[in-house]
Amino acid sequence: MKQIVIEGGIPLTGEIQISGAKNSVVALIPIALLSPHNVTINNVPDISDTSSLLEMLKLLNCHINYENETLSIDTSNVKNTFIPGTLSKRLRASYYLMGTLLAKYHYVEMCIPGGCNIGLRPIDLHLDGFKSLGATITTTEDKICLKADNLIGTDIHLRVPSVGATINLMIAATGATGTTHIYNAAKEPEISNIADFLINLGANITGAGTDTITINGATNYHDGEITVIPDRIESGTYILAGALMGENLTIFGINPDNLTSLFEVLNNMGANYQLNGNNLTITKKDTYHPVNVTTTYYPGFPTDLAQPLSAVLTKCNGTSTITETIWENRLGHVPYLVKMHANISIDSKEKISIYGPTTFLNKEVEASDLRAGASLVIAALAAPGITTINAAEHILRGYENIVEKLSGIGAKIEVKEIE
Ligand code: UD1
Repeated sequence: MKQIVIEGGIPLTGEIQISGAKNSVVALIPIALLSPHNVTINNVPDISDTSSLLEMLKLLNCHINYENETLSIDTSNVKNTFIPGTLSKRLRASYYLMGTLLAKYHYVEMCIPGGCNIGLRPIDLHLDGFKSLGATITTTEDKICLKADNLIGTDIHLRVPSVGATINLMIAATGATGTTHIYNAAKEPEISNIADFLINLGANITGAGTDTITINGATNYHDGEITVIPDRIESGTYILAGALMGENLTIFGINPDNLTSLFEVLNNMGANYQLNGNNLTITKKDTYHPVNVTTTYYPGFPTDLAQPLSAVLTKCNGTSTITETIWENRLGHVPYLVKMHANISIDSKEKISIYGPTTFLNKEVEASDLRAGASLVIAALAAPGITTINAAEHILRGYENIVEKLSGIGAKIEVKEIE
């Protein structure tokens, strides 16, 4: 098990650089398999989700070179191989191999994906969409097999604008003859980044980033290149850390257009930040105005920032609330923030109230999932003394060089491997 150990109470000052988006790269890497020879992906974050997917590509006989954030993947000798649970269960996004291999080979056999434990995470929309494109699906225990004689373009209406289903079906539809429309598509910025890569590889896609995406399939894939967009969740996490502990902390390389819902909340709180192009400088305040935040689909407030935000809302003068509408079990951080002396009540499965202002105390806590872990890191940075965060693997799945980056702005932080 990995532990993150933080001696908190030290101001965060200086400059921190934002990495490429986890939620883009976890689709861009599988999509590379569509190219006949080579692809290049730039600005690839060195996180454990990246290395897990690269292991899967190596199993499929890709040759990989990953240096200085640039990933070159040689796909000339790809073999469509069964992907075992030891690999597929490391992250939920391994399901993008389904859409990709279905598009390229019309055949996929793999174990079901894993991922953060944040409640029911069905993939019915992915599977229903694959079926309506013409695939037959069989499942045995934890294995899934998708096959199609022909994939044929169709109209797909998503019940909810699922990020994963939108991406997976967009990928699969590039391998179908005829036209596919995805209605009620997710609009997250990562979807446009992924569509741009597919287009670069030869696909004909319009409407990515809107709620209707049109794919004219039967793609003749060629080689291509893409640059991963900045990680808006990592950006938001460090901005929020700055709201709690920043002293002229500058966050470099954000895309402010993708963070408008966070800025709205920060403005309502009365946060002290200045935007300068793609950089943001923030200095903490001792207290903030309370806010009521509801997570929802993009461009609404991202569910992935609700947990980091809840640590900062402990500084509000009064009661703030967070209502979670996407995931049903995203409160794993709450008992540990309370252990660290936050005053938070769980009002229902979806809603918490945070009573402030309170001050964090150092304790031993545990990251129940990736973003819960991020909220504990933020709390630990503010808590004088040493806080130990167990199960830190979750955090390392999604934050590139978090120890180096936070050390670079003055934090006392280390990762330890323990038995
Ligand atoms: C992605 C993000 C994750 C973020 C989430 C919501 C990646 C790798 N992960 O996850 O960080 O928290 O979007 O913004 O991009 N649903 C179904 N059936 C399905 C698929 C989804 O009912 O087949 C439901 C889910 O239970 C959930 C909602 O749709 O309630 C949104 O899920 P979805 O957008 O698919 O999330 P992910 O793509 O898994």
